[in-house]
Amino acid sequence: MTTSSTFDTGAQERLESGITDLAEYRDTERNGWTREVFSSPYRDSRQWTVARMREAGLEVYTDHAGNIIGRLAGANPNAPSLVTGSHTDTVDGGGRFDGIVGVVGAIEAARQLRETGKQLSRDLLVVDFLGEESNVFGLSCLGSRAAARELTTADLDRQDYRGVSLGQAYTDFGLDPSALTQVQWAREPLHAFVELHIEQGPTLEQGQLPLGIVTAITGIERFIATFSGSADHAGTTAMTDRQDAMIAAAEAVLAVRREGCGAPNHGVATTTRVESESRSPNVVPSLVRMTSEVRSVDTSWLGGVKGRLTSEILARAAEYGVDVGFDWSTDNEVVHASTGVQDVVASAADTLGIPWMPIPSGATHDAVHMATLGPMGMIFLPSKAGKSHCPEEWSDISDIATGVAVLVHTLKALDTADLAPATATP
Ligand code: GLV
Ligand code: MN
Ligand code: MN
Repeated sequence: MTTSSTFDTGAQERLESGITDLAEYRDTERNGWTREVFSSPYRDSRQWTVARMREAGLEVYTDHAGNIIGRLAGANPNAPSLVTGSHTDTVDGGGRFDGIVGVVGAIEAARQLRETGKQLSRDLLVVDFLGEESNVFGLSCLGSRAAARELTTADLDRQDYRGVSLGQAYTDFGLDPSALTQVQWAREPLHAFVELHIEQGPTLEQGQLPLGIVTAITGIERFIATFSGSADHAGTTAMTDRQDAMIAAAEAVLAVRREGCGAPNHGVATTTRVESESRSPNVVPSLVRMTSEVRSVDTSWLGGVKGRLTSEILARAAEYGVDVGFDWSTDNEVVHASTGVQDVVASAADTLGIPWMPIPSGATHDAVHMATLGPMGMIFLPSKAGKSHCPEEWSDISDIATGVAVLVHTLKALDTADLAPATATP
């Protein structure tokens, strides 16, 4: 949606050029605006981010986790920092706005704060977090996870489809895997963290509202199921005599869908990969792997997903004589935004006359991990037709400028706000 904006046209031009410039860094062999973590377009794009931060008057460095930090010095550098930012990596075949808006927007907000000449009482850190999107290692939010000291050595042993470990990928990118969690700026509790982001869903556009204030971020449970049946001749083995791993996996795909459809509140369930070991079309499949995930902000429903899906998939597979092994992992638990930060964003929006609504996030964000370090909030702006993680992803520049104006007011108000410490995950 487009609001008639009264905001600085210079700001709009800078935001627009930021989005357009970053879109140039992409893997031209893939669809859309692909800039995956550790790839060469991603590496190159980070020089653009550093330059844009410097040009905005920020002091720039890269921390041990690979996050790019732009610091706007406050009056008391020893006071807990105020932090804002997002990510500039994209999913394979992704768009130009997811994460990018929160980095380009945060740099613009810091620039506007500096240009008004009013120094904040504490440091403002603008962060471009390393690799937020879930990657070939199946792990999201690398930079924020490491800063929050939640990245484990087991995570570094995860392997991609070529057998390369995450630790090796860090080394190849020029980062020391043994030092990733030694992030100085995140050692002490933060004063607050706030992230500007596109909604990635249709709610704001449908409600004709330019702004959402995030209440909670979805929890994510993922699993890889391995179906083991029996390899047999596809021409001579009767249908009733087969132990077909593919059929058991097909039943499981539908079971995952039924689980999402049956959520009492909002819940979603997706299967993203089904892979068979069998390469010959004339062999009954004996080994199939499937990757699925389930998301919701409803903790009690999400908490039961593992038990319900495991028993349903096992029961269906048993009908075909197929065994199933499960590897479950929690990408993140449900995280609630700080009510204090939500209130500050709401009064910033009200002061600017910007209508808003409270909204849960169905996507995960770096904010999940920052919430362990301090009070966390997120500001959403509309996504055209709710499209995201695809080339059609779009947000109007006037809406982005509106979001940045709210971010500027929010940062000023957060600087002096007395906030309750980080909210514990329920
Ligand atoms: C990231 O965008 C996610 O929600 O997986
Ligand atoms: Mn994102
Ligand atoms: Mn994303």
